[in-house]
Amino acid sequence: MRYRTIPFLLVFSTALLGCGGSSECADSAATQSSGAAVVEAKCTVCHSSQLQGAARAGAPDGYDFDDPAIVAGKADEMSSAVSEGRMPKTGTLSADEKESMMLYLECAGP
Ligand code: HEC
Repeated sequence: MRYRTIPFLLVFSTALLGCGGSSECADSAATQSSGAAVVEAKCTVCHSSQLQGAARAGAPDGYDFDDPAIVAGKADEMSSAVSEGRMPKTGTLSADEKESMMLYLECAGP
């Protein structure tokens, strides 16, 4: 447990530092847009304001990741769900997709 927690904390604090300087986020516009594209391709299949009822495949109401304001508010939850392997519910993320999405979410949050 101890040894598994330490790398996570390191990654997490690096993420916080990275986002502290706003230039870090602005400098990676390409990564930001590919991260946004991953959310669009891999998450909004279920998590979209355009989908109702059964079409959401069980994705909770309010978790509509086609809305950047919702992504910003739920960025931490989204990162945890992905890093802990709960999401995407179906489908997979390549290592590159995961990385660009994580960078996007780090900078999307408040
Ligand atoms: C096939 C449909 C589907 C896809 C694709 C999907 N989700 Fe979900 N999501 C769900 C369902 C269903 C739930 C409700 C909880 C559960 O059943 O695990 C959920 C819940 C969540 C939650 C809240 C609960 C939790 O576990 O934290 C988050 C955050 C989330 N999803 C993020 C994402 C992200 C980020 C992606 C894209 C990488 C994604 N989801 C892709 C169906 C999906």
